[in-house]
Amino acid sequence: MANSPLKVGVVGMGGIGHTHCNAYIADELAELVCVCDLRKERADEAAEKFGVEKFYTVKEMLNAHPELDIVDVTTSGIENGSWHYVPVMEALAAGKHVLTEKPISNDIEEAREMVRFACQQDLYLGCNLNHYFSEPAFMADKLIADGQIGEQVYALTKVGFNGSTVDVPNIDPTSRWQYPYSHAKAFLTHPFSVMRHFSGDVKYIQAFMDKPGARRQGGDMMLSIQSIHMQFQNGCVGYLLSQRGDAHFGLGGWWSYELAGTKGTFCIENCVEKLTVWQKDKEPVITNTGVTDFGATFPIRIHAFLEDVTNKVDKEHLRASGRDALATMEYIFAAIDSYESGGELVRPHALPAFHGSVNIIK
Ligand SMILES: NC(=O)c1ccc[n+]([C@@H]2O[C@H](COP(=O)([O-])OP(=O)(O)OC[C@H]3O[C@@H](n4cnc5c(N)ncnc54)[C@H](O)[C@@H]3O)[C@@H](O)[C@H]2O)c1
Repeated sequence: MANSPLKVGVVGMGGIGHTHCNAYIADELAELVCVCDLRKERADEAAEKFGVEKFYTVKEMLNAHPELDIVDVTTSGIENGSWHYVPVMEALAAGKHVLTEKPISNDIEEAREMVRFACQQDLYLGCNLNHYFSEPAFMADKLIADGQIGEQVYALTKVGFNGSTVDVPNIDPTSRWQYPYSHAKAFLTHPFSVMRHFSGDVKYIQAFMDKPGARRQGGDMMLSIQSIHMQFQNGCVGYLLSQRGDAHFGLGGWWSYELAGTKGTFCIENCVEKLTVWQKDKEPVITNTGVTDFGATFPIRIHAFLEDVTNKVDKEHLRASGRDALATMEYIFAAIDSYESGGELVRPHALPAFHGSVNIIK
């Protein structure tokens, strides 16, 4: 018998909340039941657009719809993450599975607490780490699984925003971005999630951070340039370069990731667009997917969450889990520690252990 669709309420009706609602409406595994935003006009507009009920607080929504299976949190906040904790904890306390936007939180203690509480409640907590839910990434997964890459040697990531310092806008001191680590905390969760997806946990991190003169002169608090060196537990070395609109990216554009191993190397360009594979004594193999819109990652990632919840996968096998999102924040906080100590080598904080379940241990 087919499963009935999972009932979903979405909290936070900015642009990304709308993107998530569109994905649920188009997905046969989901039924969008309601939307919620503290700003009445945003909740009203979204309810009208999607033809669903609206709420102005999470509590009202949870009380009115005890049958909800999933609460999807697409709020933002300081450094694009400070408004995730409260609605996520409210939904978990009410026994709902949760998908939250990235970064899981801009506060590492809150991030740890959310992952701990989801585990205690025995609920799924996923995060929208959507950058490895793309055709090139799925092809790369297969290359690794088929032994085509071999022992990993290096991983190189360049990702951020194209621009130049002449574009740096007038500074609004009340903006969510006017914090030194706003770019690091809001954005680096993506490249770290991709690097960890392919290479596993990071053992050591070392970082430099900076901002160009125009930002400094304009009084911009944000450190918009990050240069991060790492070693993975599997021995592979990695480098991550990110910048937020201070320069134009050269080769690979705004998003490139290259992984080299003893048997082969692949590079993904522009996230969704292109995969190139190099192997000894062979011509490079280039796949252009024909997809250019990065937005294509959202419905794929959301469908994966719906599949995992529908199939009741072991919590520890949930794709792009809260624990995976916590890992990226531990790396970001390790990079910040390294920068603040003048570039010292830092060992990221340990992740919570896997405890396994009866289904895993066969
Ligand atoms: N995964 C990606 O590729 C990607 C891309 C861009 C943005 N994002 C993330 O998406 C999130 C949302 O971004 P946005 O630009 O749509 O944000 P936004 O600021 O436009 O909208 C957030 C909304 O949440 C509402 N809100 C805050 N706290 C609430 C609460 N407790 N209950 C109900 N409503 C609440 C606000 O009123 C606001 O309308 C951010 O965390 C951002 O980092 C992810």
